[in-house]
Amino acid sequence: MKKAIRGRCLSYRDNPFTTSLKDCLFYEEDGLVVMEDGKITAVGPAHALLRDLGDTVPVTRYRDALICPGFIDCHVHYPQTEIIGAFGKQLIDWLNNYTFIAEQKFADKDYAGMAAEIFLKEILRAGTTTAAVFCTVHPQSVDAFFEQSAKINMRNIAGKVLMDRHAPPTLTDTAQTGYDQTKQLIEKWHGKGRALYAVTPRFAPTSSEEQMEMTGAVWKEHPGTYLQSHVSENRQEIDWAQELFPSRKSYVDIYHHYGQLGPRAIYGHGVHFTEEDFRIFSESGTAIAHCPTSNLFLGSGLFKLERSMTGPFSVRTGLATDLGGGTNFSQLVSMNEAYKIAQLNGFSLDAHKAFYLATRGAATALYLEDSIGSLAAGHEADLTVLDLKATPLLAYRLAYAGSLEEQLFTLMTLGDDRVAKATYIAGDLVYSRCSETGAEQF
Ligand code: GUN
Ligand code: ZN
Repeated sequence: MKKAIRGRCLSYRDNPFTTSLKDCLFYEEDGLVVMEDGKITAVGPAHALLRDLGDTVPVTRYRDALICPGFIDCHVHYPQTEIIGAFGKQLIDWLNNYTFIAEQKFADKDYAGMAAEIFLKEILRAGTTTAAVFCTVHPQSVDAFFEQSAKINMRNIAGKVLMDRHAPPTLTDTAQTGYDQTKQLIEKWHGKGRALYAVTPRFAPTSSEEQMEMTGAVWKEHPGTYLQSHVSENRQEIDWAQELFPSRKSYVDIYHHYGQLGPRAIYGHGVHFTEEDFRIFSESGTAIAHCPTSNLFLGSGLFKLERSMTGPFSVRTGLATDLGGGTNFSQLVSMNEAYKIAQLNGFSLDAHKAFYLATRGAATALYLEDSIGSLAAGHEADLTVLDLKATPLLAYRLAYAGSLEEQLFTLMTLGDDRVAKATYIAGDLVYSRCSETGAEQF
């Protein structure tokens, strides 16, 4: 059924890091987004579009709000929802003390289903409509995730973690079982409804050479699928990876050698990238998921965002939460922390660039910029409506924010999941929150 939503509309047509804002920005003060059969069919000034729409099409009006493309979280771990904010130390200890304990529970499919449902509700509450998701080593954790995702008809990317060493025995597969299970899961899920599959080697230190070989092979054998992993997050991790693969020139070279770079490969972090690492990612079309709340929480370091987004060897870069290393589901919070990291690197991340990174930029990192991440006719109708009066402080502060850019910057600095007023998936309203009472409806 055709329907429309009306209000202030914000989206980006191009990359504001490299193209002037006037050529990127799409903004309508009184705009209309028309949707039918899961797609956006028209976007533009309300007065003009309403003339053609006729009286029978329902129009929902959002006042004191901003209609945006749904946020995209291009790196997150659903099984880690239960360990968000776990105290203590950096990556390797945190993995051993919390992550590997929690992930063992996902051998139980019912448990995984319950966790996937909670996770998906949380991302909808945050205004996130697509995520690239790590499951666990258990194939049933992937079934559970995609079954829950299909109930809401979400465009999500996910995969079974591949890990055959340096983890508890109940969390490891073998090169052969990892390959076989991945192949079966691809056949079962990739392209089914809106599901997309990502071959998911956890990171080089938890895969043997044989598993690294077979991981590259299974990805190559299934064109159109994704590959997601971690790289260059933490100094101790980088040294460990080098020790384990002594004949490789660098951590990035390990993935390069095993055929795990290229279009639709996306790696969390890249915090300690060298110029050579950026060049290899750039030339191969590999993407980075920048995970600010995680990098700060785990004390990993300060990602060079400006370097990644500009220059001759720029890299497709999207914003991500990396929860449970990350500490918040809201991409507004990721933007806020990305700003602070950039500040410490001598770069002031403006609000348009930050909003781009969580929408069209993240879609570009996932090679999905032609179908999600923008308010544009023909795009899938995944939207979020941001409440400019979500909290008393936000309403008070925004009264003193003049320009659109200032308002967006205030939103990303003060905002969190309370700001998501409505989330639409494929044209359907799947989550709403009442500004006055905070009451929620799924
Ligand atoms: N590196 C390998 N596994 C993980 C993980 O689960 N979280 C983070 N942040 N880094 C990792
Ligand atoms: Zn991660």
